[in-house]
Amino acid sequence: MKRAVVVGKQIYLRPMELEDIERGYHDWINDYEVSRGLLSPLPQTKEALAAYVERSRQADCVIFAVCDKETDTFIGTTRLSSIDWIHRNSVYGGMIGPAEFRGRGFGLDMWTQLFKYGFESLGLNRLWTTVSAENEASLSVHRKISGLKEEGRLKEHVFKQGRFIDCIVFGIIRSDFTPEY
Ligand SMILES: CC(C)(COP(=O)(O)OP(=O)(O)OC[C@H]1O[C@@H](n2cnc3c(N)ncnc32)[C@H](O)[C@@H]1OP(=O)(O)O)[C@@H](O)C(=O)NCCC(=O)NCCS
Repeated sequence: MKRAVVVGKQIYLRPMELEDIERGYHDWINDYEVSRGLLSPLPQTKEALAAYVERSRQADCVIFAVCDKETDTFIGTTRLSSIDWIHRNSVYGGMIGPAEFRGRGFGLDMWTQLFKYGFESLGLNRLWTTVSAENEASLSVHRKISGLKEEGRLKEHVFKQGRFIDCIVFGIIRSDFTPEY
């Protein structure tokens, strides 16, 4: 494990570097299977991703590379954004890029470790996100994370491929979080 900040059962989180864009990030984010789960429709050039990674290093954001513990392979990215240091809340997100690493529990481990970092290292109290109501894989992971609650449904919240679709709001507070799963 190289430069690990948080270590889970299957993955570890390390600082994300600009070089990670070439190591797979640029390909994954332009892969239909990945991008259809994400909410932004904007073209993801290498330059746009570099700007995104730089923006994610501001005081209200933390971005990590997700790596497979066993092989040290870079397999995804995850981040906390819009961190509110007064109210101690933050938005979270993430992806597992290579198809061969999806559906094997890495997503569950990724978010559990990100939550652990947010609560224990940053002292945050609430983490939340919105998931497309059509993103079955993400919904399935979210419904498995202990302490994470489905908080509501935002009707026709995003416009994707010609139509408006609903999003589900998920949130977790520190006192409901159990790092063991
Ligand atoms: C969402 C994501 C992070 C989940 O990561 P993962 O490593 O595949 O997650 P896990 O292996 O922990 O769990 C995946 C679950 O979804 C299920 N799943 C996968 N694809 C599915 C589909 N098309 N329909 C229904 N369930 C599906 C799997 O069976 C598994 O459930 P199970 O453990 O009960 O069998 C990953 O799929 C991903 O990066 N997708 C593209 C980007 C994205 O959608 N990001 C999240 C935005 S909110």
